[in-house]
Amino acid sequence: MNQNLQIPGLQIIETADGSKTIFNPQVGENYHSRNGALQESEHVFLNSGLRYYLADKSIEEVSILEVGFGTGLNFILSANFCTLKSVKLNYVGIEAYPLQRDMLAGTGYEQYVSTALWQAFMEHYSHSLTRQVNLNSYIALQIAPTPLLNFTWGQQFDVIYFDAFASANQPEMWTAEAIAHTVRYLKNGGVFVTYAITGNLKRMLKALGCKIEKVPGALGKREMLRATLL
Ligand SMILES: C[S@@+](CC[C@H](N)C(=O)[O-])C[C@H]1O[C@@H](n2cnc3c(N)ncnc32)[C@H](O)[C@@H]1O
Repeated sequence: MNQNLQIPGLQIIETADGSKTIFNPQVGENYHSRNGALQESEHVFLNSGLRYYLADKSIEEVSILEVGFGTGLNFILSANFCTLKSVKLNYVGIEAYPLQRDMLAGTGYEQYVSTALWQAFMEHYSHSLTRQVNLNSYIALQIAPTPLLNFTWGQQFDVIYFDAFASANQPEMWTAEAIAHTVRYLKNGGVFVTYAITGNLKRMLKALGCKIEKVPGALGKREMLRATLL
């Protein structure tokens, strides 16, 4: 397990909408869009992923798998939404290099969710790297501190948030092998979302049995990709 791996030189920086993100100097990339971490997370993952999946359905329980848990921004926005809607959320995040709790505490993300949820996240984050934790009566979280290709799990998910670094900086996350390994954990009828869209990614997902949609992208990106497993 990599949970004590420290990445040297990580810096918390501000993005265009005032929300913070982390810059990883080794990869040369931010954890979120420089046009706005919050707007990207809300648009790509919460709205185009989870809320799209839940729309018009009376669903009481949903499961999400995230590739690249990082700061947990996608998680806490989803958890806050599910708590408000009384929807049970079973969330699993894959993260090869889990951040230290103090780094998460420095993001300022507590202002985007309820105080109770944030406090529970801070209290249980470290435990979630080794077992499933309940943040309230609706929200269960577990982080698998492992590289994507080593991830194995005995469950499939309704929604997948694919939030790897860009293919220009981390091409191994966007290979046919990595995408197939991810989609193996998607239920039939489940939804895969990511902030990027390329011809290659569309072809790989189609070959795995997905229907592809081009969706308007977050600020600074014309389009993003949503795929539904048929
Ligand atoms: C774009 S950032 C994700 C940001 C994150 N979703 C957030 O809200 O903070 C990409 C993440 O993928 C992680 N990562 C890098 N290589 C990985 C791998 N092989 N398997 C799983 N995660 C990986 C990085 O450590 C980083 O946290």
